[in-house]
Amino acid sequence: MQITVDLSRLLSELETLASFSDAPAPAVTRVVFSSQDLAARTYLRKLFSEVALELRTDAVGNTFARWTGSDPSLAPVATGSHTDAVPHAGRYDGTVGVLGGLEAIRALRRGGFRPRRSIELLVFTSEEPTRFGIGCLGSRMLSGTLSPEDARLLKDGEGKNLEEILRQAALNGSLENVRLAKGYYHAFVELHIEQGPLLECKGIPVGIVTAIAAPAALRVTIEGAGGHAGAVLMPDRRDAFLAAAEIALAVESAAKATRSADSVATTGVCNVFPGAVNSIPSRAVLEIDVRDIDLARRDGMLGAIRSACQTVTAKRQVRVQIDLINADAPAQASPLVTEALTQSCRALGIESMPMVSRAYHDSLFLSRIAPTGMLFIPCRNGVSHRPDEYAAPEDIKRGVQVLASVLAQLAQ
Ligand code: GLV
Ligand code: MN
Ligand code: MN
Repeated sequence: MQITVDLSRLLSELETLASFSDAPAPAVTRVVFSSQDLAARTYLRKLFSEVALELRTDAVGNTFARWTGSDPSLAPVATGSHTDAVPHAGRYDGTVGVLGGLEAIRALRRGGFRPRRSIELLVFTSEEPTRFGIGCLGSRMLSGTLSPEDARLLKDGEGKNLEEILRQAALNGSLENVRLAKGYYHAFVELHIEQGPLLECKGIPVGIVTAIAAPAALRVTIEGAGGHAGAVLMPDRRDAFLAAAEIALAVESAAKATRSADSVATTGVCNVFPGAVNSIPSRAVLEIDVRDIDLARRDGMLGAIRSACQTVTAKRQVRVQIDLINADAPAQASPLVTEALTQSCRALGIESMPMVSRAYHDSLFLSRIAPTGMLFIPCRNGVSHRPDEYAAPEDIKRGVQVLASVLAQLAQ
Protein backbone atom coordinates (compact mmCIF):
# COMPACT_ATOMS: atom_id res chain seq x y z
CA MET A 1 0.00 0.00 0.00
CA GLN A 2 1.24 3.45 -0.96
CA ILE A 3 1.15 5.95 1.96
CA THR A 4 0.92 9.45 0.54
CA VAL A 5 1.01 12.27 3.05
CA ASP A 6 -0.77 15.48 2.10
CA LEU A 7 1.93 17.64 3.63
CA SER A 8 0.63 21.05 2.55
CA ARG A 9 -2.78 20.33 4.08
CA LEU A 10 -1.17 19.12 7.32
CA LEU A 11 1.12 22.17 7.54
CA SER A 12 -1.79 24.50 6.96
CA GLU A 13 -3.78 22.73 9.70
CA LEU A 14 -0.82 23.09 12.07
CA GLU A 15 -0.72 26.78 11.20
CA THR A 16 -4.44 27.22 11.81
CA LEU A 17 -4.21 25.39 15.13
CA ALA A 18 -1.31 27.67 16.14
CA SER A 19 -3.55 30.69 15.53
CA PHE A 20 -5.70 29.67 18.52
CA SER A 21 -3.37 31.36 20.94
CA ASP A 22 -3.31 33.91 23.73
CA ALA A 23 0.20 35.04 22.69
CA PRO A 24 1.11 36.79 19.46
CA ALA A 25 2.70 34.57 16.75
CA PRO A 26 5.12 32.88 16.58
CA ALA A 27 4.46 32.20 20.27
CA VAL A 28 1.59 29.91 21.19
CA THR A 29 -0.15 30.03 24.56
CA ARG A 30 -3.12 27.69 24.81
CA VAL A 31 -4.01 26.82 28.37
CA VAL A 32 -6.55 24.07 28.88
CA PHE A 33 -10.19 25.23 28.79
CA SER A 34 -9.22 28.82 27.98
CA SER A 35 -11.38 30.32 25.23
CA GLN A 36 -8.56 29.63 22.75
CA ASP A 37 -8.35 25.99 23.80
CA LEU A 38 -12.13 25.64 23.44
CA ALA A 39 -12.00 27.21 19.97
CA ALA A 40 -9.15 24.85 19.01
CA ARG A 41 -11.23 21.90 20.18
CA THR A 42 -14.14 23.02 17.98
CA TYR A 43 -11.76 23.33 15.01
CA LEU A 44 -10.41 19.81 15.61
CA ARG A 45 -13.87 18.28 15.93
CA LYS A 46 -14.76 19.84 12.58
CA LEU A 47 -11.65 18.30 10.96
CA PHE A 48 -12.43 14.90 12.49
CA SER A 49 -16.05 15.03 11.28
CA GLU A 50 -14.92 15.88 7.75
CA VAL A 51 -13.39 12.40 7.55
CA ALA A 52 -16.48 10.86 9.15
CA LEU A 53 -14.67 9.74 12.29
CA GLU A 54 -17.03 8.77 15.08
CA LEU A 55 -16.62 11.31 17.90
CA ARG A 56 -16.84 10.96 21.66
CA THR A 57 -15.75 13.32 24.42
CA ASP A 58 -15.43 12.07 28.00
CA ALA A 59 -16.17 13.96 31.19
CA VAL A 60 -12.68 15.46 31.50
CA GLY A 61 -12.66 16.53 27.85
CA ASN A 62 -10.50 13.80 26.32
CA THR A 63 -11.66 13.52 22.72
CA PHE A 64 -11.85 10.25 20.78
CA ALA A 65 -12.27 10.07 17.01
CA ARG A 66 -12.77 6.53 15.77
CA TRP A 67 -12.36 4.93 12.37
CA THR A 68 -14.38 1.77 12.86
CA GLY A 69 -12.65 -1.39 11.73
CA SER A 70 -14.15 -4.35 9.94
CA ASP A 71 -14.24 -6.23 13.26
CA PRO A 72 -15.43 -3.73 15.86
CA SER A 73 -15.42 -6.43 18.53
CA LEU A 74 -11.59 -6.28 18.62
CA ALA A 75 -9.70 -3.86 20.86
CA PRO A 76 -8.84 -0.74 18.82
CA VAL A 77 -5.40 0.58 18.02
CA ALA A 78 -5.00 4.15 19.24
CA THR A 79 -2.82 7.15 18.52
CA GLY A 80 -2.89 10.81 19.54
CA SER A 81 -1.38 13.45 21.76
CA HIS A 82 -2.35 16.86 23.20
CA THR A 83 -3.06 20.34 21.86
CA ASP A 84 -2.73 22.46 24.99
CA ALA A 85 0.45 24.53 24.99
CA VAL A 86 2.51 25.97 27.85
CA PRO A 87 2.73 29.79 28.03
CA HIS A 88 4.88 31.21 25.25
CA ALA A 89 5.42 27.87 23.55
CA GLY A 90 5.75 26.86 19.91
CA ARG A 91 3.35 25.17 17.52
CA TYR A 92 4.58 21.57 17.29
CA ASP A 93 4.55 20.11 20.81
CA GLY A 94 1.64 17.64 20.92
CA THR A 95 -0.07 19.05 17.83
CA VAL A 96 2.11 17.01 15.46
CA GLY A 97 0.81 13.85 17.15
CA VAL A 98 -2.82 14.95 16.86
CA LEU A 99 -2.91 16.44 13.36
CA GLY A 100 -0.24 13.97 12.19
CA GLY A 101 -2.45 11.18 13.54
CA LEU A 102 -5.38 12.57 11.61
CA GLU A 103 -3.30 12.79 8.42
CA ALA A 104 -2.08 9.21 8.98
CA ILE A 105 -5.71 8.07 9.06
CA ARG A 106 -6.54 10.08 5.92
CA ALA A 107 -3.45 8.69 4.16
CA LEU A 108 -4.47 5.12 5.00
CA ARG A 109 -7.97 5.81 3.69
CA ARG A 110 -6.58 7.32 0.48
CA GLY A 111 -4.38 4.24 0.08
CA GLY A 112 -7.49 2.04 0.23
CA PHE A 113 -6.58 0.45 3.57
CA ARG A 114 -9.43 -1.09 5.51
CA PRO A 115 -8.50 -1.80 9.15
CA ARG A 116 -9.68 -4.93 10.90
CA ARG A 117 -9.30 -3.29 14.33
CA SER A 118 -10.78 0.18 14.76
CA ILE A 119 -8.22 2.98 14.77
CA GLU A 120 -8.88 5.70 17.34
CA LEU A 121 -7.34 9.16 17.45
CA LEU A 122 -7.16 10.70 20.93
CA VAL A 123 -6.72 14.31 22.01
CA PHE A 124 -5.84 14.29 25.69
CA THR A 125 -6.91 17.03 28.06
CA SER A 126 -4.19 19.09 29.69
CA GLU A 127 -0.97 17.23 29.11
CA GLU A 128 0.65 20.43 30.31
CA PRO A 129 0.51 21.21 34.03
CA THR A 130 0.02 24.96 33.52
CA ARG A 131 -3.51 25.31 34.85
CA PHE A 132 -3.88 22.61 37.50
CA GLY A 133 -0.22 22.05 38.46
CA ILE A 134 -0.39 18.40 37.36
CA GLY A 135 0.64 17.13 33.93
CA CYS A 136 -1.26 14.59 31.78
CA LEU A 137 -4.57 15.20 33.52
CA GLY A 138 -6.66 13.45 30.85
CA SER A 139 -4.45 10.41 30.36
CA ARG A 140 -3.84 10.13 34.11
CA MET A 141 -7.59 9.78 34.61
CA LEU A 142 -8.04 7.48 31.60
CA SER A 143 -5.47 5.10 33.05
CA GLY A 144 -6.93 5.26 36.57
CA THR A 145 -3.72 6.81 37.93
CA LEU A 146 -5.69 9.85 39.14
CA SER A 147 -8.99 8.98 40.80
CA PRO A 148 -12.15 11.04 40.27
CA GLU A 149 -12.04 11.97 43.99
CA ASP A 150 -8.50 13.35 43.70
CA ALA A 151 -9.35 15.08 40.42
CA ARG A 152 -12.23 16.87 42.15
CA LEU A 153 -9.72 18.44 44.56
CA LEU A 154 -7.79 20.11 41.73
CA LYS A 155 -8.01 23.88 41.55
CA ASP A 156 -6.55 26.37 39.12
CA GLY A 157 -4.53 29.45 40.11
CA GLU A 158 -7.74 31.44 40.59
CA GLY A 159 -9.13 28.87 43.00
CA LYS A 160 -11.70 27.48 40.54
CA ASN A 161 -12.13 23.75 40.87
CA LEU A 162 -11.91 21.30 37.99
CA GLU A 163 -15.60 20.35 37.94
CA GLU A 164 -16.68 23.99 37.84
CA ILE A 165 -14.35 24.58 34.89
CA LEU A 166 -15.59 21.43 33.13
CA ARG A 167 -19.21 22.55 33.52
CA GLN A 168 -18.33 25.95 32.04
CA ALA A 169 -16.87 24.06 29.07
CA ALA A 170 -20.20 22.21 28.73
CA LEU A 171 -18.64 18.94 29.93
CA ASN A 172 -21.29 17.59 32.26
CA GLY A 173 -20.51 13.86 32.33
CA SER A 174 -19.42 11.90 35.36
CA LEU A 175 -15.68 11.72 36.10
CA GLU A 176 -16.32 8.16 37.27
CA ASN A 177 -16.76 7.17 33.60
CA VAL A 178 -13.39 8.45 32.33
CA ARG A 179 -11.26 5.45 33.31
CA LEU A 180 -10.66 2.82 30.63
CA ALA A 181 -10.07 -0.81 31.50
CA LYS A 182 -6.69 -2.40 30.98
CA GLY A 183 -6.81 -4.04 27.56
CA TYR A 184 -9.31 -1.50 26.20
CA TYR A 185 -6.74 -0.71 23.50
CA HIS A 186 -4.73 -3.31 21.60
CA ALA A 187 -1.88 -0.76 21.39
CA PHE A 188 -1.20 2.96 21.66
CA VAL A 189 1.43 4.82 19.63
CA GLU A 190 2.22 8.53 19.93
CA LEU A 191 4.06 10.68 17.40
CA HIS A 192 5.87 13.65 18.99
CA ILE A 193 8.75 16.02 18.38
CA GLU A 194 11.86 14.94 20.27
CA GLN A 195 12.18 18.13 22.37
CA GLY A 196 15.90 17.38 22.62
CA PRO A 197 18.86 17.54 20.22
CA LEU A 198 19.90 13.92 19.66
CA LEU A 199 18.16 13.09 16.38
CA GLU A 200 19.28 16.33 14.78
CA CYS A 201 22.87 15.88 16.01
CA LYS A 202 23.05 12.36 14.67
CA GLY A 203 21.19 13.15 11.45
CA ILE A 204 18.66 10.38 12.10
CA PRO A 205 15.04 11.18 11.17
CA VAL A 206 13.14 8.93 13.58
CA GLY A 207 13.63 8.00 17.24
CA ILE A 208 11.94 4.94 18.65
CA VAL A 209 11.27 5.54 22.32
CA THR A 210 12.21 2.70 24.63
CA ALA A 211 11.40 4.36 27.98
CA ILE A 212 9.98 7.58 29.40
CA ALA A 213 11.74 9.24 32.36
CA ALA A 214 10.05 9.45 35.75
CA PRO A 215 8.62 12.91 36.48
CA ALA A 216 7.71 14.41 39.84
CA ALA A 217 6.46 17.82 40.91
CA LEU A 218 6.37 19.63 44.24
CA ARG A 219 4.62 22.78 45.35
CA VAL A 220 6.46 24.53 48.18
CA THR A 221 4.66 27.29 50.06
CA ILE A 222 6.82 29.50 52.25
CA GLU A 223 5.26 31.79 54.86
CA GLY A 224 7.49 34.47 56.31
CA ALA A 225 6.68 37.94 57.59
CA GLY A 226 5.79 40.91 55.42
CA GLY A 227 6.43 44.51 56.26
CA HIS A 228 7.74 47.86 55.11
CA ALA A 229 10.80 47.64 52.85
CA GLY A 230 12.23 50.78 54.39
CA ALA A 231 11.33 50.38 58.02
CA VAL A 232 12.06 46.75 58.91
CA LEU A 233 15.77 46.34 59.53
CA MET A 234 17.66 43.46 57.97
CA PRO A 235 18.32 41.43 61.16
CA ASP A 236 14.57 41.47 61.91
CA ARG A 237 13.37 40.08 58.60
CA ARG A 238 11.74 36.75 57.72
CA ASP A 239 11.61 37.27 53.98
CA ALA A 240 9.68 34.46 52.27
CA PHE A 241 11.21 35.12 48.87
CA LEU A 242 14.78 34.84 50.14
CA ALA A 243 13.90 31.50 51.71
CA ALA A 244 12.39 30.50 48.36
CA ALA A 245 15.55 31.59 46.56
CA GLU A 246 17.67 29.37 48.80
CA ILE A 247 15.32 26.46 48.14
CA ALA A 248 15.52 27.06 44.38
CA LEU A 249 19.32 26.92 44.59
CA ALA A 250 19.03 23.69 46.59
CA VAL A 251 16.86 22.26 43.78
CA GLU A 252 19.68 22.91 41.33
CA SER A 253 22.22 21.40 43.73
CA ALA A 254 20.06 18.29 44.23
CA ALA A 255 20.21 17.55 40.51
CA LYS A 256 23.92 18.36 40.16
CA ALA A 257 24.83 16.29 43.20
CA THR A 258 23.78 13.03 41.54
CA ARG A 259 26.55 13.60 38.95
CA SER A 260 24.27 11.99 36.39
CA ALA A 261 23.33 13.78 33.19
CA ASP A 262 19.94 12.10 33.48
CA SER A 263 19.02 14.00 36.66
CA VAL A 264 17.21 17.30 36.06
CA ALA A 265 15.39 19.62 38.43
CA THR A 266 13.75 22.97 37.72
CA THR A 267 11.99 25.65 39.73
CA GLY A 268 9.72 26.97 36.99
CA VAL A 269 7.22 28.92 39.09
CA CYS A 270 7.88 31.43 41.86
CA ASN A 271 4.91 33.54 42.94
CA VAL A 272 5.67 36.21 45.49
CA PHE A 273 3.02 37.83 47.70
CA PRO A 274 2.09 40.67 47.97
CA GLY A 275 4.36 41.55 45.04
CA ALA A 276 5.12 45.21 45.74
CA VAL A 277 8.60 46.66 45.36
CA ASN A 278 8.40 48.34 48.75
CA SER A 279 6.90 45.38 50.67
CA ILE A 280 8.89 42.50 52.11
CA PRO A 281 7.54 39.25 50.61
CA SER A 282 5.39 37.49 53.21
CA ARG A 283 4.64 34.44 51.09
CA ALA A 284 6.28 32.66 48.18
CA VAL A 285 5.02 29.64 46.27
CA LEU A 286 7.43 27.54 44.22
CA GLU A 287 6.57 24.83 41.73
CA ILE A 288 9.41 22.40 41.23
CA ASP A 289 9.84 19.76 38.52
CA VAL A 290 12.21 16.84 39.17
CA ARG A 291 12.99 14.03 36.72
CA ASP A 292 15.30 11.14 36.11
CA ILE A 293 15.25 7.93 34.14
CA ASP A 294 16.24 6.19 37.40
CA LEU A 295 13.40 6.15 39.93
CA ALA A 296 15.60 5.79 43.03
CA ARG A 297 17.80 8.69 41.94
CA ARG A 298 14.71 10.82 41.22
CA ASP A 299 13.38 10.06 44.70
CA GLY A 300 16.81 10.86 46.14
CA MET A 301 16.54 14.34 44.64
CA LEU A 302 13.08 14.80 46.18
CA GLY A 303 14.55 13.81 49.54
CA ALA A 304 17.42 16.28 49.17
CA ILE A 305 14.97 19.08 48.34
CA ARG A 306 12.82 18.24 51.38
CA SER A 307 15.81 18.35 53.69
CA ALA A 308 16.96 21.66 52.18
CA CYS A 309 13.48 23.02 52.98
CA GLN A 310 13.97 22.01 56.63
CA THR A 311 17.36 23.70 56.78
CA VAL A 312 15.97 26.90 55.30
CA THR A 313 12.99 26.82 57.70
CA ALA A 314 15.32 26.85 60.67
CA LYS A 315 17.80 29.32 59.22
CA ARG A 316 15.26 31.93 58.13
CA GLN A 317 12.50 31.37 60.69
CA VAL A 318 9.84 30.76 58.04
CA ARG A 319 7.13 28.09 57.73
CA VAL A 320 7.44 25.76 54.77
CA GLN A 321 4.70 23.47 53.47
CA ILE A 322 5.61 20.89 50.84
CA ASP A 323 2.88 19.36 48.67
CA LEU A 324 3.83 16.49 46.43
CA ILE A 325 1.81 17.03 43.25
CA ASN A 326 2.91 13.84 41.53
CA ALA A 327 5.73 11.32 41.60
CA ASP A 328 5.31 8.95 38.71
CA ALA A 329 7.23 5.83 37.84
CA PRO A 330 9.03 5.67 34.50
CA ALA A 331 7.40 3.76 31.63
CA GLN A 332 8.89 1.11 29.39
CA ALA A 333 7.73 0.94 25.79
CA SER A 334 6.09 -2.29 24.71
CA PRO A 335 8.02 -4.56 22.30
CA LEU A 336 4.76 -4.97 20.34
CA VAL A 337 4.96 -1.29 19.39
CA THR A 338 8.74 -0.80 19.21
CA GLU A 339 9.07 -3.83 16.92
CA ALA A 340 6.24 -2.58 14.71
CA LEU A 341 7.95 0.83 14.57
CA THR A 342 11.31 -0.73 13.70
CA GLN A 343 9.71 -2.82 10.98
CA SER A 344 7.80 0.14 9.51
CA CYS A 345 10.96 2.28 9.40
CA ARG A 346 12.82 -0.55 7.69
CA ALA A 347 10.01 -1.08 5.15
CA LEU A 348 9.93 2.65 4.37
CA GLY A 349 13.73 2.89 4.17
CA ILE A 350 13.82 5.41 7.04
CA GLU A 351 16.73 5.25 9.45
CA SER A 352 15.79 5.12 13.13
CA MET A 353 17.45 4.88 16.53
CA PRO A 354 16.23 3.80 19.97
CA MET A 355 16.09 6.55 22.57
CA VAL A 356 14.78 7.54 25.99
CA SER A 357 12.18 10.29 26.34
CA ARG A 358 13.24 12.79 28.96
CA ALA A 359 10.03 14.74 28.53
CA TYR A 360 6.85 13.14 29.77
CA HIS A 361 3.92 12.39 27.53
CA ASP A 362 0.42 10.97 27.70
CA SER A 363 2.09 7.71 26.65
CA LEU A 364 3.53 7.49 30.18
CA PHE A 365 -0.03 6.84 31.41
CA LEU A 366 -1.38 4.95 28.41
CA SER A 367 1.41 2.45 29.03
CA ARG A 368 -0.36 1.53 32.30
CA ILE A 369 -3.37 0.17 30.37
CA ALA A 370 -2.09 -0.73 26.89
CA PRO A 371 1.06 -1.82 25.06
CA THR A 372 2.48 1.62 24.24
CA GLY A 373 5.26 3.16 22.21
CA MET A 374 6.32 6.50 20.77
CA LEU A 375 8.15 7.76 17.75
CA PHE A 376 10.07 11.01 17.77
CA ILE A 377 10.98 13.31 14.93
CA PRO A 378 13.78 15.89 15.17
CA CYS A 379 13.18 19.48 16.22
CA ARG A 380 15.59 22.28 15.39
CA ASN A 381 18.38 22.69 17.95
CA GLY A 382 16.38 20.45 20.27
CA VAL A 383 14.29 23.47 21.23
CA SER A 384 10.81 23.07 22.72
CA HIS A 385 8.49 25.02 25.04
CA ARG A 386 9.72 28.13 23.20
CA PRO A 387 8.24 30.15 20.32
CA ASP A 388 11.16 29.15 18.06
CA GLU A 389 10.29 25.45 18.36
CA TYR A 390 10.44 24.06 14.81
CA ALA A 391 10.08 20.73 13.04
CA ALA A 392 10.96 20.57 9.35
CA PRO A 393 8.13 19.63 6.95
CA GLU A 394 10.08 16.62 5.62
CA ASP A 395 10.57 15.30 9.15
CA ILE A 396 6.87 15.72 9.92
CA LYS A 397 6.04 13.91 6.69
CA ARG A 398 8.33 10.99 7.54
CA GLY A 399 6.85 10.79 11.04
CA VAL A 400 3.34 10.58 9.63
CA GLN A 401 4.39 7.93 7.11
CA VAL A 402 5.86 5.78 9.86
CA LEU A 403 2.84 6.36 12.09
CA ALA A 404 0.42 5.40 9.30
CA SER A 405 2.42 2.28 8.52
CA VAL A 406 2.51 1.24 12.20
CA LEU A 407 -1.21 1.85 12.68
CA ALA A 408 -1.88 -0.28 9.60
CA GLN A 409 0.36 -3.09 10.90
CA LEU A 410 -1.19 -3.07 14.35
CA ALA A 411 -4.77 -2.79 13.09
CA GLN A 412 -4.53 -5.64 10.59
C1 GLV B 1 5.80 17.84 28.90
O1 GLV B 1 5.44 18.87 28.38
C2 GLV B 1 6.91 17.81 29.79
O2 GLV B 1 7.05 18.79 30.56
O3 GLV B 1 7.69 16.85 29.74
MN1 MN C 1 5.00 20.23 26.40
MN1 MN D 1 4.02 17.29 24.41
